[in-house]
Amino acid sequence: MPEHLAIIMDGNGRWARARGLPRIAGHRAGTENLRRILTACTEFGIKVLTLYAFSTENWGRSPTEVRGLMNILESVIDRELDELHANGVQIRHVGRIEDLDPRLRQKVEQAVARTRGNDRLILNVALSYGGRDEIVNAVRRIVADGIPPERIDEVLIGYYMYTAGLPDPDLVVRTSGEMRISNFLIWQAAYSEFYFTPAYWPDFDEEELRKALFHYAQRERRFGLVVQPSA
Ligand code: FPP
Repeated sequence: MPEHLAIIMDGNGRWARARGLPRIAGHRAGTENLRRILTACTEFGIKVLTLYAFSTENWGRSPTEVRGLMNILESVIDRELDELHANGVQIRHVGRIEDLDPRLRQKVEQAVARTRGNDRLILNVALSYGGRDEIVNAVRRIVADGIPPERIDEVLIGYYMYTAGLPDPDLVVRTSGEMRISNFLIWQAAYSEFYFTPAYWPDFDEEELRKALFHYAQRERRFGLVVQPSA
């Protein structure tokens, strides 16, 4: 079982188009799907789940879609926070919190503060997140902190990432048939296993998750080493 699962939830728009619905209906269906995947993750004992909800590039979508997505995010927090908290979910944000509209930003910060003490599942929500942007941000803070070059190593850079203190993702799943990383956790996913499925995100149910985990369990992770045949 992966300790840290990361998901690129893709295909909401195509799911909606295939049904003759507006794109935002796909995002709503995608949001509904989050519940079952969260429940399944806690049942499977996954400790960290990182979801790519909105990338730094997604700000370039139509204002209607961006507004619609932000409204969905706000209402998800309003609707689900009590239950997530009761279920021991710790919410964290990864990304450029300063980009969010002040009201949404406040809701995210309150959700993070309220659930800080929970430890059943850490839910990282990547919202206005870009992997390159994260690295730029880390480098700037390292320089601003006056860290001498000889003290900079991979561990130190890890401390300056949004995911500081968390294990790297063991498995990255992308739905909807696209086989790209799209600027997601590019530092942290250096040794992750990848699983791509044609299922659109709203259709990625517990059974699809089981399939992904089954594939992961078959993989032999070598981290650049050679596995010695057992005696
Ligand atoms: C990708 O589908 C999906 C998104 C850009 C948004 C994902 C957001 C949610 C599921 C909303 C709620 C999330 C949280 C964490 C509360 P797409 O629009 O790129 O689909 P397409 O490639 O088919 O057009």
